[in-house]
Amino acid sequence: KKVLHIVGARPNFMKVAPIHKAIAARGQLSQVLVHTGQHYDVKMSDVFFTDLGMPAPDIHLGIGSGSHAEQTARVMLELEKVFLSEKPDLVSVVGDVNSTLAAALVASKMGILISHVEAGLRSFDNRMPEEINRIVTDRIADLLLTPSPDADVNLQKEGAAASRIHFVGNVMIDSLLASKARADTLPTLKDLGLTPQGYAVCTLHRASNVDDAKILGGLISALAHVSTRLPIIFPVHPRTRKMLADKGLGGLLEKAPGLRLVEPMGYLEFLALTSQAKLILTDSGGLQEESTALGVPCLTLRENTERPITVEQGTNLVVGVDPERIREAATAILNGQGKKGRVPELWDGRSAERIADLYARVLGVDTGALRA
Ligand code: UD1
Repeated sequence: KKVLHIVGARPNFMKVAPIHKAIAARGQLSQVLVHTGQHYDVKMSDVFFTDLGMPAPDIHLGIGSGSHAEQTARVMLELEKVFLSEKPDLVSVVGDVNSTLAAALVASKMGILISHVEAGLRSFDNRMPEEINRIVTDRIADLLLTPSPDADVNLQKEGAAASRIHFVGNVMIDSLLASKARADTLPTLKDLGLTPQGYAVCTLHRASNVDDAKILGGLISALAHVSTRLPIIFPVHPRTRKMLADKGLGGLLEKAPGLRLVEPMGYLEFLALTSQAKLILTDSGGLQEESTALGVPCLTLRENTERPITVEQGTNLVVGVDPERIREAATAILNGQGKKGRVPELWDGRSAERIADLYARVLGVDTGALRA
């Protein structure tokens, strides 16, 4: 039996790598790895394959950037051909990017079993493209693999049958735990002239934050203020880089020497940086979870989160985009009032094993020998 994995954008790679590895280790199922090419820069894609020890994609669609409709449609057109020739028994998609939705739509019309890893997360904000991707993907996926109990509840409320829902834990944390020791040996901090706990890390890329000049300007001014207390390392997403230039925010940045813009980083280098940070400021979904797993205080620069467990149990605080509120929250952390938090249930580094077992069971492959 054959499992076909879809990866497309940066946050997909660290979710698929451990699943691919766990299935390969069991040796019961054949696998095909398809990269849609939604992300294509070396620093947004290639480096993650090396860092995560993931094999190169078997098939690369080279889709690239475009409007939502263009990007989704191009992935769909190419994937239909791939599914026809590869004849997978199960298509495994992760997360909430356009490639995830496109793959789920094509597979559902072709009657192929779909598994959605990271199902059930909801921001309840339909202005987010990712929320639409999550809702539609979950509605048509056969297997809904959830990272936290709140996701199970969301799916139940939407009427998903209990037999479709499987709480497997957070597979992204598998990658984090498997990579941490290696990241710790890197000279990243030294190279950047930083000391442990002596700096903050920031990432911004959400359309709602970076496509609007007023919001982006406000965020940069808040960061500039915080950076007078401690340096902030800011690896800049290509989308954000473009917007900072287009919206003429260069002047604001020049006046803030403590806010240090750097190129997007590889997985291990970034983990080396985040794990020793005093504070993380972000609009990323993944980083809210990683900071909770690492026990590093996190301020989420959005009005909502689809990952409430990071607030209820972890180190995350959702502070919105008001510059003053961000400054106050950051100051509190720098003055020693950071959240402590705990690591949620099943964020234990073994989610991929649970997923591999589930796929084998669902596809009718005998796992008896493994269990014995
Ligand atoms: C996508 C996902 C988002 C995820 C993010 C992680 C959707 C709807 N959004 O957003 O959920 O959090 O990836 O990064 O799928 N670009 C490059 N090089 C690249 C990729 C992108 O230069 O390798 C630039 C292009 O100008 C492109 C823009 O970034 O137009 C946006 O890329 P896109 O893939 O549309 O969305 P992201 O903002 O990356």
